[in-house]
Amino acid sequence: MLSIVEHDYGTPERKDGRLVTLSIDGREVTVPEGTSVMRAAALSDVQIPKLCATETLEAFGSCRMCLVQIDGMKGLPASCTTPVAQGMVVHTQNKQLADIRRGVMELYISDHPLDCLTCPANGHCELQDMAGVVGLREVRYGYEGENHLDSKKDESNPYFTFDASKCIVCSRCVRACDEQQGTLALTIQGRGFDSKVAASQDESFMDSECVSCGACVQACPTATLSEKSLIEKGQAEHSVTTTCAYCGVGCSFRAEMQGEEVVRMVPNLDGHANHGHSCVKGRFAIGYATHSDRILKPMIRKQITDPWREVSWEEAIAYAASEMQRIQAKYGRNSIGGITSSRCTNEETYLVQKLIRAGFGNNNVDTCARVCHSPTGYGLKNTIGESAGTQNFDSVMQADVIFVIGANPTDGHPVFASQMKRRLRQGATLIVADPRTIDLVRTPHIQAQHHLKLRPGTNVALINSLAHVIVTEGLVKEDFVRERCEVDSFEKWRNFVSLAQNSPEAMQEITGIPASEVRAAARLYATAGNGAIYYGLGVTEHSQGSTMVMGIANLAMATGNVGREGVGINPLRGQNNVQGSCDMGSFPHEFPGYRHVSDDKVRAQFEGAWGVSLHSEPGLRIPNMFEAALDGDFKGLYIEGEDIAQSDPNTQHVTAALTSMECIIVQDLFLNESAKFAHVFLPGSSFLEKDGTFTNAERRISRVRQVMRPKAGYADWEITQLLSNALGYPMTYKHPSEIMDEIARLTPTFTGVSYQRIDELESIQWPCNEEHPEGTPTMHIGQFVRGKGKFLLTEYVPTAEKVNAKYPLILTTGRILSQYNVGAQTRRTENNRWHDEDRLEIHPHDAEERGIAEGDWVGIASRAGDTVLRARVTERVQPGVVYTTFHFPESGANVITTDNSDWATNCPEYKVTAVQATRVSQPSEWQKRFREFTETQESLLKHATDDAVASK
Ligand code: SF4
Ligand code: SF4
Ligand code: SF4
Ligand code: FES
Repeated sequence: MLSIVEHDYGTPERKDGRLVTLSIDGREVTVPEGTSVMRAAALSDVQIPKLCATETLEAFGSCRMCLVQIDGMKGLPASCTTPVAQGMVVHTQNKQLADIRRGVMELYISDHPLDCLTCPANGHCELQDMAGVVGLREVRYGYEGENHLDSKKDESNPYFTFDASKCIVCSRCVRACDEQQGTLALTIQGRGFDSKVAASQDESFMDSECVSCGACVQACPTATLSEKSLIEKGQAEHSVTTTCAYCGVGCSFRAEMQGEEVVRMVPNLDGHANHGHSCVKGRFAIGYATHSDRILKPMIRKQITDPWREVSWEEAIAYAASEMQRIQAKYGRNSIGGITSSRCTNEETYLVQKLIRAGFGNNNVDTCARVCHSPTGYGLKNTIGESAGTQNFDSVMQADVIFVIGANPTDGHPVFASQMKRRLRQGATLIVADPRTIDLVRTPHIQAQHHLKLRPGTNVALINSLAHVIVTEGLVKEDFVRERCEVDSFEKWRNFVSLAQNSPEAMQEITGIPASEVRAAARLYATAGNGAIYYGLGVTEHSQGSTMVMGIANLAMATGNVGREGVGINPLRGQNNVQGSCDMGSFPHEFPGYRHVSDDKVRAQFEGAWGVSLHSEPGLRIPNMFEAALDGDFKGLYIEGEDIAQSDPNTQHVTAALTSMECIIVQDLFLNESAKFAHVFLPGSSFLEKDGTFTNAERRISRVRQVMRPKAGYADWEITQLLSNALGYPMTYKHPSEIMDEIARLTPTFTGVSYQRIDELESIQWPCNEEHPEGTPTMHIGQFVRGKGKFLLTEYVPTAEKVNAKYPLILTTGRILSQYNVGAQTRRTENNRWHDEDRLEIHPHDAEERGIAEGDWVGIASRAGDTVLRARVTERVQPGVVYTTFHFPESGANVITTDNSDWATNCPEYKVTAVQATRVSQPSEWQKRFREFTETQESLLKHATDDAVASK
């Protein structure tokens, strides 16, 4: 249901046509050709009654409320479906129109419950509004005739209700599901009086194909589809615009509030990343923020076998600082470090790295991007000169061929996936390179032209064979290459990829993809017009992750697919602020803005601003921290908003390293897996409790706005500031905007960024500076950031992780729509209704060979460890490949992943682990130990609470 605070011009905007001028009720209005009469009227402040039309959907013309009279035109056309014309003269009000509208409304109301006063939509219902607008005073047909008032409610979805008795069959929900979401889960069944909305094959919403994006709820003009939270709490009294804290799409939302309580999240029509759309996580899964598992008191303990002691903030901060100082005095300045989080704001991340460089006095700072997109940074920086995607999301609407490599957008980046699907339904062609049959390969009205179902770990072999075809079949955009790229590097690359060893025929043994399929896909990408590449962790999380990113950049440059709309190299970032945490200097070798710590000029700039001397040597990466901890050289770690004990590979190695440290400070919402090894717990704040900014996968910086006070007393940036002050490095920020101002002063790509500027523009894509005062939607126009594009050689080197008789299958991992990353947030919401355990996907042949049936417990053993999951037997995976998600800690997906990592960045090779799968009847030894340890830690936490209660 649309909120009253959002505008609705009735039909979508048209931008491209020539301008035409018409007269509406005597007012002259000029709009682009193709605009509807309804929209033109609304733009000139003439409101035409409507029910079935709304701005986010193409007009349908079913309700007949919006009829108008047009001079020279027969009859009374519907203004929503009638396009404007030069010189048109439109009348929206006269007696005939009023009578017709009132008559239509009478029919609707005669079959509608008359419970307006108790209806959740009361005051925000378009049917109610329109009844008022048309002056309905009586219903001549009475209310006793045949009606739908006894229709059953569908309450199956945990977040919204479908009350069919209130439905006016306007089909806005059906169109929202088709056009906006692209799931096509709804239809209007039956005809005339019997017509009704049906989910899938007339199933409940929960049993249907519905993915709970909520687009239909937003589109519904009545209370038929209503959020349960709205029904329960009533209407909001104010709203605050903020940014989703889940994935890298970075959707803009209005948090509709009653005081400090969120009534519902409504995607913002003006949001440049999402244009009013959302997914089930951002719109509905915010219950974690107020979950009873939240820890709201600081806690300390000497050893991880001690119960937690709740203490004041002063004591916790003083203890944390003194421990870090003690460790440095005993083991040296480099014996401590910190980890920033891609779930925190830019300002928070910036402060943590500043604390470490200036307060700890070393460069031992790293971030979770180490384990996801660090190869993107390395690969793109070295080829095109900037560690970021080249486009905005809207650019996909200009793409002719979309090439998705190692990404699963419908699960990982759902709102962007909906936009991509819209473009595909308009006729763009699709190539998917993925070991699994992801949903995008075949989804309503979309079929990938080529699904390159490669063996995990062979990406570079594939990209080289695609390049081979492009080079040897004369498909290179020679002009682009000569003008825009380093020709020497191109020649070397051309010679390299032309070698017979890189041909699709030679590589098919390795990749498993028929050579003809690779040749056809290469030709399509190179010749179809605008070719846009979108990739994800299926590219980066490999021993050759950086090589593959460079291979993608080579391919885009060779075909001239960079530097304009509709093309580009687009890494789909996993978490909400992966781009931002990298931009903010979270890596041990780089200051904010990707400038190396060894650069004397840059270092001098930061030394001047921060008033300390800084180190020119890069610090430790996360895996190096673990190694140093196990060697006894690294003893203290400050972790803000990350859960390395669950998210990093080879869990047993990670937990051994954590156990060997003397002070681990965890700043988080919950007692996560890492916090079970911690000595200090500092309760963090959710995105609803603080101000700041997130930067999404398009380099778009958007505001996060506080809607409630921090539940534990401080926003995360304030906690870091307290710690810094206690360590003797003063920080005196009064608001995150001051932190952003400092970032802007010190970072060339951010010099034009400020909270005021973001408020003016809604959001800003960096670089934003004197040259680009409104930001940069498309990068590398005219020339690459590094000047000339550089081709780099990408020799395929097989991973060291080999299958053999003992470990004959390859395990690869990924995510699912309803859960998010380590699941700490989504597991504490109703999203568990869609996915309450991680399962092992196994091909029917492999399952049969092992006597494994659907739902059986399966032991999965690798060289690193073993775990047990239930089986899902499916042809989505190819024979020889198994797959799982990693959202539940007890699944132990990372107990089996190994220490192998990308040669350039140490990004772990999550996507390739050789395993064996066997039917078993009990949990693994690790899982038994895990349960025992978890029970102990939960009891130590419970005792902390009990002690506090007892002492009151
Ligand atoms: S559920 Fe709402 S949007 Fe869908 S047809 Fe009924 S009234 Fe219209
Ligand atoms: S919630 Fe989304 S997917 Fe489900 S029916 Fe509505 S629009 Fe379709
Ligand atoms: S697509 Fe991503 S950013 Fe948008 S609502 Fe979903 S989780 Fe949030
Ligand atoms: S709003 Fe135009 S026909 Fe319904």
